[in-house]
Amino acid sequence: MAKTKPVQPSTAANPQTNPMWGGHYAHGPAEAFAAINPSISFDWQLYQQDITASLAHCAMLGAQKIITAAEAQQIEAGLKTILTEIESGDFEFKTALEDIHMNIESRLAEIIGDTAGKLHTARSRNDQVATDFRLYVRDSLDAMDGLLQLLQAALLTRAQQHAATIMPGFTHLQPAQPITLGHHLMAYVEMFGRDRDRLHDARTRVNMCPLGAAALAGTSFQINRTMTATTLGFDAPMTNSLDAVADRDFVLEPLAAFSLCALHLSRLAEELILWSTPMFGFVRLPETFTSGSSIMPQKRNPDAAELIRGKTGRIIGSSNSLMITLKALPLAYNKDTQEDKEPFSMPAAN
Ligand code: ARG
Repeated sequence: MAKTKPVQPSTAANPQTNPMWGGHYAHGPAEAFAAINPSISFDWQLYQQDITASLAHCAMLGAQKIITAAEAQQIEAGLKTILTEIESGDFEFKTALEDIHMNIESRLAEIIGDTAGKLHTARSRNDQVATDFRLYVRDSLDAMDGLLQLLQAALLTRAQQHAATIMPGFTHLQPAQPITLGHHLMAYVEMFGRDRDRLHDARTRVNMCPLGAAALAGTSFQINRTMTATTLGFDAPMTNSLDAVADRDFVLEPLAAFSLCALHLSRLAEELILWSTPMFGFVRLPETFTSGSSIMPQKRNPDAAELIRGKTGRIIGSSNSLMITLKALPLAYNKDTQEDKEPFSMPAAN
């Protein structure tokens, strides 16, 4: 689900040294490494989830008295300012700051000073990115479910209109027995119903909270994992800290469900393409979803349906690509998992 408002990350020069690693690094990254390391060109799209998760973490740190109430208030106000800046297009995303997490943290330090560093108490970017992305995937599943519901409703309306419209039913694409168009369309209502079931089922496993796993082995701070999980609408904190930061099933399962759904859409598109040829002549597609030809005026090309059929390739490819990325990763976090976002419809800005 790409956000609508594209933001171009700046290509600001990399710092000479890397203060993030506590000053024990004398050198900044090599040019080639600096070119492949950042994820901000695509993960800026997690800004909302990153701020939401940070607000929940900050409130918990305050409630547990790990930071003072005044510090929590300062951090909260700073994060809200950043959200406004990003949404109004006034935020400069910096490639040198690598990803959305460090871009926001660095801006927070500019706004509120040293207290900003306390937000990262009892947290690592490893549990942070897993949390942000789970929130993002959850939103995408809900949006997709709403769209499939609309599609089912449209098919149902047509099926009712054509409950008595006789057409040939096929096997081997040979006319076999008479059926109704309503009956035929209802087969797709069933398919999209199963697709929705798969999304609902995947959602239960997506909706678990990794926060508290920190880098991989948890934290010795007296955090309240139930509080952050509940605030963020998750069902529960994840049980195993290594799994919490290493797992990407929560991306793969939805991608597999989307692949099946794309396959169903592709079969429907294929039938519309066949039915609209004069040889079948069952349907006439509207001008608004077809293209014509100036030298062959008899033609009405079913481009929209062909594109639905065509895009199925890249959707199934996304699912395959992430499976291959993950298949040999040792526990726990590995940077390879940064590659999980682009296949999940999070394109990089050019
Ligand atoms: N940008 C990183 C990702 O998407 C965030 C986590 C980085 N963690 C680390 N230990 N380097 O995976």
